[in-house]
Amino acid sequence: MLPGPRPRGYEDLFGAQLALEIYRFDDWQTLQLRQIRTIEQRLGAAGAYLVTALAGMRDLKNLYERANTCVACHQTVELPLLKAGHPELIFELDGQTVSQPRHWREATNFSGGQAWFVGQAVALRELSWQLTREGASDPKLNARWQAALWLVQKVAPTVSSSAVRVTSEANAENAAAALKTADQIARQAAQMCWTTDLSKKALEALASSGPDFRQRELANELQARRAERLVLALDRLNNDLQRNRSGEESDSELNSLFKLAQSIPDFDR
Ligand code: HEC
Repeated sequence: MLPGPRPRGYEDLFGAQLALEIYRFDDWQTLQLRQIRTIEQRLGAAGAYLVTALAGMRDLKNLYERANTCVACHQTVELPLLKAGHPELIFELDGQTVSQPRHWREATNFSGGQAWFVGQAVALRELSWQLTREGASDPKLNARWQAALWLVQKVAPTVSSSAVRVTSEANAENAAAALKTADQIARQAAQMCWTTDLSKKALEALASSGPDFRQRELANELQARRAERLVLALDRLNNDLQRNRSGEESDSELNSLFKLAQSIPDFDR
C-alpha cells in the first residue's frame, strides 16, 4: 500500500460521527494495517476499501493495480518536458519492483514474469494514451509506442487468448484501439494463474524475434526502441526462470545486450 495525502470530506460520505472516527487516526501518512482493521470493523470490507482508496492507498498485491500505481509516475513525460531535457522514462514493473524495496508481502503465487507482462501491457496503454493526447508528430514518441506495441503483440498470443489487432502506423485511431486492448490484456493477465511455463513461452517468442530486427525497411530508431524493451524483457523473464539456478552465463550475455540497447543514438544492426 502507498500512503497518499490525508483525505477530506468524509462528513458527506459517512456522516459527521463516523468522519470524526476516521479523522482521529492522527497520522494519516502512516496509516497502519491495525488501523485499517478498525475501520474494517466499523465500515465493513467495502467501506475500508473506499477509505483506503480515497486516502490514495492501493492494493499492490493485485498486479493490475500495482502496474497502474507505478506507471502513473514511471512512463509518461509530456513532450514539452522531454524537449526541455527531462530524461525519458521506460516502465518495466517487475525489475522496478525489485529495485524499489517493497513494503508489502507478495502473494504466494507471485510471478516475476507475470508482473513484467502486466507492466508492459500497462506501459503500452499509457504510451497509447499519450499518443491520443499529444498527437503523432513526435518521431521518438511514435517509435516508442510502436516498440511497446510490437512487444505486446509478440507475447500476448502465446500467454493469453488475446491479440492486439492494430497496425503499427502511429495515428490517433490505432492509438485509441491499442489503448483499449492493452488495458483489457493487462486486466486479464493480472487475474491469470501464471505458470513458469508461460514465462518460458514468452521468452521463446521473444528470443526468436531475430528476423524482426533484420527487416531492412525498418528505421534504426524503431529497431533501437524494440531492443530497449526487448533486453528488459529478456532480463526479467530470464530472472523468473533462473530464480533457483545460477544464471551467471546468461547474465554476461544480457549485460552486453544492455550496453548495446542503451546506445540508442548510434544503434546499428
Ligand atoms: C507519485 C509518483 C510515483 C509513484 C506512484 C511511484 N514512483 Fe517510483 N519514483 C518516483 C520518483 C519521483 C522517483 C525518483 C526518481 C529519481 O530520483 O530519478 C522514483 C524512483 C523509483 C525507483 C528508483 C529509480 C529507478 O527508476 O530505478 C524505483 C525502482 C521506483 N521508483 C519504483 C516504483 C514502483 C515499483 C512503484 C509502484 C509500486 C513506484 N515507483 C511508484 C515517483 C513515483
